[in-house]
Amino acid sequence: MCGQLADPQTGDSETTYSNIFYCQGCWQDRKKAQQAARGGATDEAWNEGSAFVYMKAVEGIQAAAGSNGDMETSVAACVGSRPESSAVRGAHGRSLLHHIAEHGDAGAIRKVLDAYQNFYGRHVELCSTVEMYEDGFGLTAGEIAFAGNHAEAFDALVNSAVNRPRPSNFCTDSNKAYVKQKLSYEGDGDGAVLKDEKGGGVMMGWEKPLMRRHAEVIAPTPGLSVMNVGFGLGLIDGFLQERQPAKHTIVEAHPDVYAEMGRRGWLDKPGVNVLGPARWQDQIEGMIAAGPFDGIFFDTYAEMYGDLQEFFKLLPQILKPGGVLSFFNGLSDKNMYAQAISCRCAQLDLARLGLACMYEPYPIGAIDEAEWRKVVNLYWSLETYYVPVAVRIPENEPDAITRVFNSLPPRCDGAQPELRAMAVRPGDACGKVLDDKLAKARQAAEEARRLEVQQQMIKDAATPPLVEAPGA
Ligand SMILES: C[S@@+](CC[C@H](N)C(=O)[O-])C[C@H]1O[C@@H](n2cnc3c(N)ncnc32)[C@H](O)[C@@H]1O
Repeated sequence: MCGQLADPQTGDSETTYSNIFYCQGCWQDRKKAQQAARGGATDEAWNEGSAFVYMKAVEGIQAAAGSNGDMETSVAACVGSRPESSAVRGAHGRSLLHHIAEHGDAGAIRKVLDAYQNFYGRHVELCSTVEMYEDGFGLTAGEIAFAGNHAEAFDALVNSAVNRPRPSNFCTDSNKAYVKQKLSYEGDGDGAVLKDEKGGGVMMGWEKPLMRRHAEVIAPTPGLSVMNVGFGLGLIDGFLQERQPAKHTIVEAHPDVYAEMGRRGWLDKPGVNVLGPARWQDQIEGMIAAGPFDGIFFDTYAEMYGDLQEFFKLLPQILKPGGVLSFFNGLSDKNMYAQAISCRCAQLDLARLGLACMYEPYPIGAIDEAEWRKVVNLYWSLETYYVPVAVRIPENEPDAITRVFNSLPPRCDGAQPELRAMAVRPGDACGKVLDDKLAKARQAAEEARRLEVQQQMIKDAATPPLVEAPGA
């Protein structure tokens, strides 16, 4: 069936290059088209040709960058003649996209992406596509464009990636197993941690400012009906209480967390309705009966995007028209390019369900390394966090979305809300996780230049100097 991806574990489908993977239904057609393009060339001859065109394209990119020349035309000529060169990787695992991203030529990037699409089809799974290739330093082309402040090139790479097929990922088994683990609450205040049995941080106190902002977003005024899925340290629920909701529902799966909620008085708090201890998946009727809500926040543990997508599907039943959804946005926590893709994907998935989603950048800064020594899972590394603000679009009242977006309260530090359709922008603080990779890449480039100079000197020394002929 078209769009159904083959399973890399069972080998149900075939692959050409090790990192290119096809939708099963398109594989045969694609194979025929590729064979026709090869025109009977042996693998060796074909691969040599691809590598040669790749090298020519890299030379063209460097020449155009050095002379302010037309990079797009030069790249188009190469990948037009051999489109498979769009997926070739040269020194340090760099593809043409990596080389172009250094200079931020969005037109040339689109030419490579078009060539890739022409040759490999549109059903290469997102995690295997050329946009996601990491070079030898762990950098994607998107991160290089981001670091170079090349906004148009960055957006071109993001928009291309979000249109790739994404197989759903669920964590049902690990979530069920998590609920059976023994949890521990340690420390207090900003240093508090809730840990699972293996020392994994379920929730940490450093997230407090983020939770405050999520609460402000889903409960901008007093007197609303709100729901939070996942109690954890109770941070967001504390902030929601400060915002004086008329009704406050909390869904919690874990018996240890539920018991802690009892000790802290949450089970008997006036106006608070706790559903649990049971997974949200098993409390759908309860959520529908308690709703619909003006604001919903979702932040669970040991779940993946597929689970969140399943929760999204409930929104038309549990979120009021004009109501706001927000969720812990930690889907891609170590890579700004992947973060941008995740934000766009969630936005598109929510749009299909009738929600308009924008993002508010929140400069969280670097988390103290001492925090990460408390847990075994470093689950956040970026210095900017993107708060999702998703409004359920009311029928026949399109202005309502603008009204909701415009009435977001300022942040507690007084900063005015800034909502973006494209969450991540080059220039946002990213931090060490990217700086370290860039430093390694720079070091390797300097080393390569040094070697080149050395080799040239050796060559020059080996060439006999011109000697004038006697009597000339
Ligand atoms: C990251 S913590 C939430 C932290 C919370 N936002 C706060 O401000 O402290 C995740 C919580 O979700 C709960 N949880 C995990 N899986 C769940 C599920 N399937 N249904 C409901 N709650 C779940 C965990 O037990 C945990 O209490």
